[in-house]
Amino acid sequence: PQPDLLAPADRTTLESLRDEVDSCRNCPLWADATQAVFGEGPDNARVMIVGEQPGDKEDIKGRPFVGPAGALFDRAAEEAGLVRENLYVTNAVKHFKFEPRGKFRLHKTPGPTEIAACRPWLERETEVLAPRLVVAMGATAARAVIGRLVKIGETRGTILKREGQPDVLVTVHPSFLLRVPDGERKQEEYRRFVEDLKLAAPFLK
Ligand code: URA
Repeated sequence: PQPDLLAPADRTTLESLRDEVDSCRNCPLWADATQAVFGEGPDNARVMIVGEQPGDKEDIKGRPFVGPAGALFDRAAEEAGLVRENLYVTNAVKHFKFEPRGKFRLHKTPGPTEIAACRPWLERETEVLAPRLVVAMGATAARAVIGRLVKIGETRGTILKREGQPDVLVTVHPSFLLRVPDGERKQEEYRRFVEDLKLAAPFLK
């Protein structure tokens, strides 16, 4: 074969990164989780969606956003003119953090050390995918993507331009919407979420 047809063995791809993440021991979360949950989607996706961490369903299935928050995200994304199949979907933290409560596993928010321990994976994932836009959903994702604490209320709904890096759009996490009690406010929050996601649509063209 021609030399230029040989793939260098050390070239990082999303697949090789997934294998590395599978055996990550950067923080203790791996010990109780079923498996690491890596990102999913086309390797040429122009838009990367970042959530917080896998939930109970995601931990079991090994795929991001396949539980209730994922269903809400899919619906809102479709309303915003985004098709899930065109998006690359991942999480800031790749292992499920939870507290056993009887036969249930209660979600626990990852802390700054877990976010920091997992951040190199997200950075490399972003570098390999090289999307045009990263959508950070919720405070954990925003912190992991931007690298510092940001207030969602102040940052959401505008495209942040960054030198030599993909643009960023911050919005709320779909799990937040699931927790808002039924009623007018829930509808209003959902509508705002869809409006935020609409800002990502031009990046897919
Ligand atoms: N919430 C997230 O942040 N990510 C998932 O994959 C599922 C729920």
